[in-house]
Amino acid sequence: MIGKICGTGAYVPAHVVDNHDLSRIVDTNDTWIRERTGVARRHIIENDTTVSMAVKAARQAIEQSGISPEEIDLILVSTISSEVILPCTACEVQKELGAVNATGFDLNAACTGFVFAYNTAQAYLTAGMYHTALIIGAESLSNLINWKDRSTCILFGDGAGAAVLRAEEGAVYPAVTHSDGLKGAALTCMSRHRQGRNEEGEDMESYMQMDGQSVFKFAVKKVPEVIEELLEKAGIGIEEIDYFILHQANRRIVEAVAKRLKADIEKFPMNLEEYGNTSSASIPILLDEMNREGRLKKGQKLIISGFGAGLSWGASLLEW
Ligand code: UT7
Repeated sequence: MIGKICGTGAYVPAHVVDNHDLSRIVDTNDTWIRERTGVARRHIIENDTTVSMAVKAARQAIEQSGISPEEIDLILVSTISSEVILPCTACEVQKELGAVNATGFDLNAACTGFVFAYNTAQAYLTAGMYHTALIIGAESLSNLINWKDRSTCILFGDGAGAAVLRAEEGAVYPAVTHSDGLKGAALTCMSRHRQGRNEEGEDMESYMQMDGQSVFKFAVKKVPEVIEELLEKAGIGIEEIDYFILHQANRRIVEAVAKRLKADIEKFPMNLEEYGNTSSASIPILLDEMNREGRLKKGQKLIISGFGAGLSWGASLLEW
């Protein structure tokens, strides 16, 4: 058995903050942000929450897959930015959807989260434990950003993406995942109840803190490596892959990965210009865009690959 994606969905808030808007808040400019990151705009929540965005993306995916909410056995939400700790986002989504037969839980693997959620769902489906899974990446990163810190506030955006997977006969496709907690300090965010001062009297604010250059170097080294590891495990050549759907963190990271793999950049779709880095939502939002544009054809081979806090990184092969 294998889980096949039979529906996708995405939602981003209507409110747009462009680079010029940010240049009025911090010392930055449109040229710098575009050249260093490729980001031009990001969509930021006003009235939405992580749950409401997850539900809107999920409804689209359910509608496209032609299933009823009652058929969903498993709901996995990948998020680092839920407004509430309890109950988990997945149970809130379950309630809103009326997915009364589903078991739901959240998963935190930051920007690798959607890949890990996909693999977790596959493990359940291939084991025969569940038949239909709804996986979601949903993030309200604007709540975790220090809007006075130009090194992070320019990068991130809010949004959600979802996919419905159904078990069907077929061979399992491989995945490769890694974590390295020793390098976790490169990208951190304290929870609200740790807010305050540390023993040295320094502010420990509950905002994202990032050593941008370290994360950049980590990504351009580890993402090509994990993709090569995956291709070797699958026993297929890189030329057989139709699209590499990478976490949308920075255009230069995507370009560097394509270059290191000696693969055609046309096979690396990007939408980060419009949405910025939406962490675990970036891969499913891109997947849904491509799906709705009719760019994904039955039988095509795709690799989804994420990387980020943890540190964590991974790649999965799937056939459309
Ligand atoms: O989702 C996964 C998590 N995150 C990532 O993948 C992020 C990975 N890292 C990156 O994307 C990049 O490192 C950044 C976009 C964050 C930064 O780009 P960079 O090319 O590594 O810039 P830098 O940190 O080396 O800074 C270069 C210069 C510095 O000035 P000096 O020291 O050369 O005078 C910075 O102070 O650019 C300055 N700078 C800015 N200037 C204008 C930093 N941020 C800005 C800014 N606007 N927003």
